[in-house]
Amino acid sequence: MKTIVITGAGKGIGFELTKQLCSKNKVYAVCRKASDELKNLSCEVIEGIDITEESSIARLQKELKGISIDLLLNNAGIAIWKEEPNLKENILKQIEVNAIAPLMVTRALENNLSEGSVVIMMSSRMASISDNTSGKSYGYRASKTALNSLTKTLTFELDPKGIITCLMHPGSVSTEMNPRGQIKTKECVEKLIKRIENVKKQDSGKFLRFDEGEIAW
Ligand SMILES: NC(=O)c1ccc[n+]([C@@H]2O[C@H](COP(=O)([O-])OP(=O)(O)OC[C@H]3O[C@@H](n4cnc5c(N)ncnc54)[C@H](OP(=O)(O)O)[C@@H]3O)[C@@H](O)[C@H]2O)c1
Repeated sequence: MKTIVITGAGKGIGFELTKQLCSKNKVYAVCRKASDELKNLSCEVIEGIDITEESSIARLQKELKGISIDLLLNNAGIAIWKEEPNLKENILKQIEVNAIAPLMVTRALENNLSEGSVVIMMSSRMASISDNTSGKSYGYRASKTALNSLTKTLTFELDPKGIITCLMHPGSVSTEMNPRGQIKTKECVEKLIKRIENVKKQDSGKFLRFDEGEIAW
């Protein structure tokens, strides 16, 4: 049985990860507001956590004090597809939630991680600069690219402690964020879990696909 912390556990991929992982593991489901569906799962719900707020992160740190985390899934994220007319504000908001917040959460929980722990940052193929063939979504793309960069830098802190840190593209998944997603959360998460279970030391700092292979920066 592993101890797993999942952010953004209230819906979408985070909820499905919680659902599939909680039967065999101790899962701390971190969310802003827990639905009845989440409360009915056999997980420990940590509610009222906005990952962009310092006070929330401090409370999360307190709630998890002394608990060894085997797997930290930084899954929470936002996409503001309609960025205009407040383009600057919307780019900054996405960078705050998608890039800076997962770094702050991970650093706050660094003492809970040790040799063999795995940190997954939920990135996106849209982070890839070389794969950007269609433009649009300035903020979402830039925020996930920034997440990739911050995470790569973080690996220089965590690798020496034997902590494996990977960036993951979950596929195009049908959720509130991506109603036109091509795969169902159940299928995505089944593959994602297999992929995460198989990550090795040499995968640290890599940008991985949920099924197989890597994504070019
Ligand atoms: N779906 C896709 O096709 C796809 C593709 C590539 C990458 N991703 C990434 O996968 C992750 C999950 O996406 P999803 O499709 O499952 O999206 P989703 O259904 O919109 O769920 C996003 C989750 O993040 C939480 N969240 C957002 N802002 C937060 C904040 N400030 N503090 C705490 N929690 C916050 C939401 O909480 P609330 O319920 O409180 O709003 C929600 O639980 C995201 O990082 C996303 O960028 C998704």
